[in-house]
Order: sequence, then structure tokens, then C-alpha cells
Amino acid sequence: MSKKETEDMLRPGGIVSVDAIKNAPPVDMEWLNDSCLVVVIVGASGDLAKKKTYPSLLNLYDDNLLPKNSKIWGFARSKMSDEDLRDRLRPFLLKTNHSPEVVERFLMRCFYQGGSSYGDGDAYTELDGKLKAFEEHHTNEKHSNRLFYFAIPPNVFAETAVAIKKAAMQDESKGWTRLIVEKPFGRDLESFEELNETLSKHFTEDHLYRIDHYLGKEMVQNLSVLRFSNIWFDPVWDSKNIQCVLFTFKEPFGTEGRGGYFDKVRGTDSVGCARFRWVDSLQSLILSFLLSLPYSLALFGISYRTICYKS
Ligand SMILES: NC(=O)c1ccc[n+]([C@@H]2O[C@H](COP(=O)([O-])OP(=O)(O)OC[C@H]3O[C@@H](n4cnc5c(N)ncnc54)[C@H](OP(=O)(O)O)[C@@H]3O)[C@@H](O)[C@H]2O)c1
Repeated sequence: MSKKETEDMLRPGGIVSVDAIKNAPPVDMEWLNDSCLVVVIVGASGDLAKKKTYPSLLNLYDDNLLPKNSKIWGFARSKMSDEDLRDRLRPFLLKTNHSPEVVERFLMRCFYQGGSSYGDGDAYTELDGKLKAFEEHHTNEKHSNRLFYFAIPPNVFAETAVAIKKAAMQDESKGWTRLIVEKPFGRDLESFEELNETLSKHFTEDHLYRIDHYLGKEMVQNLSVLRFSNIWFDPVWDSKNIQCVLFTFKEPFGTEGRGGYFDKVRGTDSVGCARFRWVDSLQSLILSFLLSLPYSLALFGISYRTICYKS
């Protein structure tokens, strides 16, 4: 690609050919066969874990998209055995379209570690011992990776991250450690910066994945396909041809016991439903609707486009 073409693509609002998609890096499937993986769901007793996180992992498991040697540990303060956790998850997993046999096989990969708090160093040390015992069984694999998924309220993000750093990080020579943090990342700029500072003190950006699972929904993902892979829409997706864009947020159910959460994220000031949905999810959705095609689907390409619009 010439320098001029690259500059054109980087220009805010610059038009990029759909060919850029062909330059996206291929999915690396090697790790599925050559590595072992532990996923730790922090906050395994909660709403997000049972409704979204475990069912998503079940989807990956049934599609053979988890390494063969993978296990899932739940971590929370609730007192539970492995069997209690499985009993709690089972009804939600059976609501998916996977067969009961697959659900049972998946559940046999799920374990539980309790702690007195999310910063309980001893509990993470105990967990680390269990993870090592599992990983040592799979020394033939090239890598043993650890993924920590935060399905907890934001006020305990920092203490959780610090405890993981102290007691449960994977040795870098053996594999990676990654942390997935669900939004909201604090309540406002100040609390975001405070949280970010704590996380950055202990982890590099390679370790951290800040996500909003709402943006992974099919409808949202389909927006990019509808736009960038469609020769009719792509050339007319601009202010000359679109007069008005209207976003409607519709959900055919209530807060289902999560009213307290919307009113107040424990220990912090109110987050509120409007802030949670509008500022976090819908604004990101509008952004992805407006975004010009990134010059590359690698991380920098997408962040560059995002920053252009946000600024
Ligand atoms: N649910 C969703 O659909 C959804 C959607 C988008 C984003 N999120 C985000 O995902 C995270 C988890 O959401 P969730 O709905 O699963 O929350 P949740 O059910 O209220 O909390 C998850 C777990 O955290 C622990 N917990 C609750 N309050 C706590 C407190 N004050 N101090 C320490 N631990 C506490 C509880 O486990 P133990 O008592 O057993 O420790 C609870 O089971 C939140 O940051 C939320 O904003 C959730």
C-alpha cells in the first residue's frame, strides 16, 4: 500500500476500500490444539455469569473453539462447592440450544473457589495451586494460559486485580495472563482515571481487555457487515445521503431484580439506568455506526478511527 493511500485512510472521515478487510490478520487457530487454558470467572455467583458468561463459554466449547485442555474456575465470596455451582448454572445452560449431554460435559469442566473477599490473597494462592496442578498435567502443551473475566461490580475491580497480580499470575515463560473487565469502568472520568491508574500500575495493556458485551450482540455486529460488506450501502453511507439516524432502545422486560444495581453501584454514587445504557452501551453503538472503515482490523486501526470520532 502506498504512503498516500495510507494517509488517505488515516484521514478522519477518509474513505477506505473494502479491500482493507482482506489485510486483516488471519485467526490464529494453533493455540486451540497446542495450549491449555484456564478461564477464571470472578463473580461466578452473579447475574452476568449465569446469564451470559457461562452460556457463551458453553457455545465456544460446543463449537470446539476452546482448547481441548481447558477448565473454568468460578471465584466469588458465596460459599459453594463445585457441585453447587453446577446446580446453579445448569438451568441457564439448559435454556440454550445445546443438548443436555453437552451441557453436562461442559459442567464437568467447571469448578469453584470461594474467598472471603475479592482481594483475599490466601484464596487466590489456593486457586493458583489448583491451576498449577491442572497445568502440570499438560506439560506437553506449548502454552498454559490464564484468562480472568471480571463479572463483578466496579468497586471491587481494583482489589481483585491487585490480588491476582500478587498470587495468581501465570509465569510468562509458560503462557499469558489476561484480564477481561466488563464496563462500566467507573462512574465518571475521575473514577475511571482512578481505576485505570490502579490497573496500569500492575498490568500492561497486553494484559487488559476492557469490554462491553453489548457490542458483541449479533445485531450490533451485523451493522458492520451490513455497511462494509454491502456494495450498495457502503458508497452511500454518509451525510449527503442519510438525513436522520434514530436509535431506539427497546427491551421487553424490566430490570429483573437488578433495580438496586441501576440505582446504585455499591459503595459508589449512583450509576443510573440512563448512564449505564446511554453513555456506555448506546453511545458506543452509535460510534460503531458512524465509524469509517478502519484501515486495518488490527487493534491500532480500530482505535485510531474511534479516537478520531471521539475527539
Ligand atoms: N448482568 C448483566 O447483564 C450485565 C450487563 C452489562 C454489564 N454488566 C457488568 O458486569 C458486572 C457484573 O454484573 P452482575 O449483574 O453479574 O452483578 P451482580 O450479580 O450484582 O454481582 C456479581 C457478584 O458480585 C458479588 N457482589 C455483589 N455485590 C458486591 C459488593 N458490594 N461487593 C463485593 N462483591 C459483590 C456477588 O458475589 P458474591 O457475594 O458471591 O461474592 C455477586 O454474585 C458489573 O460490573 C456489571 O455492570 C452486567
